[in-house]
Amino acid sequence: MERLSELPDFKPTLSLTIAEAVLDAAFLYESVESEVALEALSKIVFAAQGCTARAWGRCLRAAPSAGATYPLRTYVVARAVQGLEPGVYSYQSPAPLKHALRRVEGISVSSRGSFTILFEEVSERTTGVYGERGYMYIREEVGHAAQGALLEASALGLAGRLRKLEPPLGRIRYCVEIGARGAKLIERRPPKGFAEPSPAKLTLEEAIVHRRSVRKYSPTPLRLDELSSILLWSISGPVRPYQPLTSYRVTCYLAVRNIKGLDPGVYRYSPEEHELENIVKGDVSARLAAAALGQEWVARAPLNIVLCTPSDSPDAELEAGMVGQNIYLSATSLGLGTVAVGAFYDDDVASVLRVDERPLYIFPVGRP
Ligand SMILES: Cc1cc2nc3c(=O)[nH]c(=O)nc-3n(C[C@H](O)[C@H](O)[C@H](O)COP(=O)(O)O)c2cc1C
Repeated sequence: MERLSELPDFKPTLSLTIAEAVLDAAFLYESVESEVALEALSKIVFAAQGCTARAWGRCLRAAPSAGATYPLRTYVVARAVQGLEPGVYSYQSPAPLKHALRRVEGISVSSRGSFTILFEEVSERTTGVYGERGYMYIREEVGHAAQGALLEASALGLAGRLRKLEPPLGRIRYCVEIGARGAKLIERRPPKGFAEPSPAKLTLEEAIVHRRSVRKYSPTPLRLDELSSILLWSISGPVRPYQPLTSYRVTCYLAVRNIKGLDPGVYRYSPEEHELENIVKGDVSARLAAAALGQEWVARAPLNIVLCTPSDSPDAELEAGMVGQNIYLSATSLGLGTVAVGAFYDDDVASVLRVDERPLYIFPVGRP
């Protein structure tokens, strides 16, 4: 008979904000295999793929998904978790989705730490709808889920790392290893840059629960301090607020339409300095929306954050997902709304921005 271990419900209990979580991030520490609480595992796996709402007869999850196609199947390899027998478990057994673990056989992976989360890519769920483009979406979604898990691990005071399995284990290419904190390996000091951030209104855990894609915005302008916060918590710094797989491959551009104190135009953002450089004058949001198959939220948002890459690498797509999860949770924490936009003509977006790079994602941002 199948054994299902139900996990404790995710309740926001920690007072840390995303700003605090990324300052003392899980990936900055060496990970050691000592016993962690089942509640920690429960919260971390929920932050990756937990069911946070129901719509159209299905679960909407903590991480976004292109067309809500949800191509990821999640497994947990437990090594040292209080009250959980070591072994491999699948998270959320098939319908109805439950915040629960079910023991499975036949998966063997060598990994480190107290437990490991594995993401299996059931590609056809997404490529069946979006064709070849779907493969990029799936890698972005692994990035969202992994970053969700790592942010929660940060808030819980644990260590964590994203790792690429080489060679992959069937359709499992990436995993997140979680452990107790050992020595601090990297220091992170966010740059000062163009504006002070504004404080978060929600804790990180509240933002995880409340994150949703928002496509309608009020006409009120955004403020510079809000823009500064989103960038600082998502992508800024010589050491950025997420772990790169190797080097950083994602660049960031802003298409500004309505921000108090900033002229409309396209800006190149420097994550190292937290500074903006104007490269195109005037509002390009209508042309950007046309390049994004006419999606009107792109035209109406006071700001569009466009993530690009100079390289043509799958790791850049994963990284864009990690930055994207930070953007979603930062916007939610500030009482703002955003939506990941992956459907666009790459060449048209690059030509609107006047950049010689591959666009990966557009995030319209506004006041819901
Ligand atoms: C890779 C990716 C691409 C997406 N592309 C679009 C898009 O082009 N337009 C859009 O309106 N939403 C897009 N979305 C948002 C999804 O539609 C949304 O995440 C999904 O409906 C689940 O809703 P939720 O984000 O509120 O949980 C995308 C999401 C992801 C992860």
